[in-house]
Amino acid sequence: ELSFIHRYEPASEPARPPLLLLHGTGGDETDLLALGRTVSPGSALLSPRGKILENGMPRFFRRLAEGVFDEEDVRFRANELADFVAEARKAYGLEAPIALGFSNGANIAAAMLMLRPDALAGAALLRAMVPLQDAPKADLTGKRVLMVSGLMDPIIPVENSNRLAASLSESSADVQHETLPTGHGLSQTDLQLMLKWFAVSG
Ligand code: MLT
Repeated sequence: ELSFIHRYEPASEPARPPLLLLHGTGGDETDLLALGRTVSPGSALLSPRGKILENGMPRFFRRLAEGVFDEEDVRFRANELADFVAEARKAYGLEAPIALGFSNGANIAAAMLMLRPDALAGAALLRAMVPLQDAPKADLTGKRVLMVSGLMDPIIPVENSNRLAASLSESSADVQHETLPTGHGLSQTDLQLMLKWFAVSG
């Protein structure tokens, strides 16, 4: 028994990198399967359900208010999820995955990059914000990170997503940060950027 409820789809193209799919608040382990198949056809898909319930809505860590995180829980849950990734890699015979996270799922992926850099080969972070105010400085050399932010996102100030991109760059990740004239929801341009970015991975 692995430690998270999850969906798993084996690779049909073993040369493609596995994806770790991380849903937003109120989503579940089926939410991002179709997106994962679209942006990286043939990749193995590993898609856990967040263990925290906020008014019945699954999430990956606790928050005190919208955009205000319980950082002790962020740390605990990022480590717990990294442990799950290690278990799943053994069980399914996978390389380190590339995270594909939206909103709360992008935030836990960012926390994993900072706290457990070996857990992920890279990450596509859609509408991510700074998950920890004082994270340790990780070495992310060789890891590609795509961040796509919304200029009019009511939850994430542009300054905040810029700060996350800067801190990942300072940790030597290969960061591509795009800010679109859109809100918190995903747009067609997000999809185009992901298709391009995933096409050169693996
Ligand atoms: C979070 O709690 O991670 C962010 O506020 C994004 C969200 O899930 O709404």
